[in-house]
Amino acid sequence: MLDVVSRVVPAGCLLTTVLLVLSAAYSANGADEICGSLDIRNRVEKFKELENCTIIEGDLHILLIDQVSQGDYDHLSFPKLREITGFFVLYRVSQLLTLRYMFPNLAVIRGDTLFYNYALVIYEMLEMQEIGLNGLVTILRGSIRLEKNPNLCYMDTIDWSLILKEGTENNFIADNKDQGGCLNFCPKTGCRTPTALGTVRELCWSGDHCQKGKTLIQRYLTTYEATAYNHTCPYGSG
Ligand SMILES: *[C@@H]1O[C@H](CO)[C@@H](O)[C@H](O)[C@H]1NC(C)=O
Ligand SMILES: *[C@@H]1O[C@H](CO)[C@@H](O)[C@H](O)[C@H]1NC(C)=O
Repeated sequence: MLDVVSRVVPAGCLLTTVLLVLSAAYSANGADEICGSLDIRNRVEKFKELENCTIIEGDLHILLIDQVSQGDYDHLSFPKLREITGFFVLYRVSQLLTLRYMFPNLAVIRGDTLFYNYALVIYEMLEMQEIGLNGLVTILRGSIRLEKNPNLCYMDTIDWSLILKEGTENNFIADNKDQGGCLNFCPKTGCRTPTALGTVRELCWSGDHCQKGKTLIQRYLTTYEATAYNHTCPYGSG
């Protein structure tokens, strides 16, 4: 799982995207910052590299952090981060229980580059109890891989087909905590929303955050497409 092989979109296409993203970002808000790929590993101090990033133009790897105690993540919050254009991998980050404080506003994972076929990988996160990506609206390309997370709850309260543009067919979800052993209570305020299948269910990321339903997702995407990104680059062109 460690050899990060990624597929890169053609240079011209990528450049156009970067320019579009840059111009949109800078005209919208002078404080936005585009970062390149980031590899946060071994030490909690490395998280500092993320502090100003609004968009990661590339991939985000967070892995192999083991000399930590739970409180070490308490002050780590990156509310500016909205988008990763490539993939996001989490692997063996000890004592990290949730991403809800760390990345509350991460809304888009584009999957321009993938880890094998995956845009989001959560692998051997031994203490993680919920994913907690409360702001995640869409993964534009690629599937997800959630594997060997023995404490991960709130897995059956997420409708991935609302998020994954490619559909859920190629998701790989295995060897995680049996959801029967989880409480998985959605917020009392009510998270009932139509699923992709059209039935109505309670969908949430955690005990205090609903998953966004179809209407909110659509509203977000309309703004996103109009401002940040122009779909002229075919996702499968690499
Ligand atoms: C983030 O921005 C602050 C203020 O401009 C700067 O001092 C700091 O070095 C930046 N951090 C990184 C990792 O670029
Ligand atoms: C995206 O690019 C195409 C072709 O260059 C253009 O026709 C279209 O208007 C653009 N859309 C947006 C939202 O900028």
